[in-house]
Amino acid sequence: MRKPIIAGNWKMFKLKGDALAFVEAVKNNVPAADKADSIVCAPFVFLDALVEATKGTNLGVAAQNMHFEEEGAFTGEIAPRMLADLGVNAVVIGHSERREMFNETDETVNKKVHAAFKHNLLPIVCVGESLEVRENGTTNDVVDAQTVKALAGLTAEQVAGTVIAYEPIWAIGTGKTATSEQANETCGYIRSVVAREYGQATADAVRIQYGGSVKPDNVVELMAQSDIDGALVGGASLDSESFLALLDAV
Ligand code: G3P
Repeated sequence: MRKPIIAGNWKMFKLKGDALAFVEAVKNNVPAADKADSIVCAPFVFLDALVEATKGTNLGVAAQNMHFEEEGAFTGEIAPRMLADLGVNAVVIGHSERREMFNETDETVNKKVHAAFKHNLLPIVCVGESLEVRENGTTNDVVDAQTVKALAGLTAEQVAGTVIAYEPIWAIGTGKTATSEQANETCGYIRSVVAREYGQATADAVRIQYGGSVKPDNVVELMAQSDIDGALVGGASLDSESFLALLDAV
């Protein structure tokens, strides 16, 4: 059985005080570690404080991005080893906002996934199609290529330990959720891509989240789908009560 994983992606919201107050309200109310993974994906500047504040709890802390190099003259960037050194647990890689606005490519996504494994960070790798792609019927082709390129060069064991987040771009922050059937169909297709490339056992193990206007009132139905193992949530993860309501779905 795959362990559910609910992650709140705060994007560029919250100040440090709000982030710490959120974590205080949530950290002792998250599911047991053997039942589900509960994670907040926070801006870099709060990560240190959040790791300290969540020590000894089952609430994990993720970064929303990182560079793939070990170190170097990359002004303004954050190295994977810096995240690991702080005790950060996970990292979101290839979010569509980074692909669309910050020149993230399939190649840099792949390098970042390798860097995450090197530094023992759980990679949450985002894939997903635009509205145009959805409407012209090539969603499977697009997520197939994104998945293959993101995971290239990983061992089957590493792929099994990766989290893939399927986030249709047209459903992000729009209030427009993919129906649970649409979400499950594409998550199932992504799983079949993993099976084709790495074998059925790996596909059965890899966890696939859905993201895009997930809310407390639709999370239960989404999580009940056969190929959806969790949610990557933006807007509805910003409020602590709403985040706890999302966790109730596991
Ligand atoms: O990474 C989460 C995301 O992009 C979905 O955002 O606000 O539609 O839940 P939202």
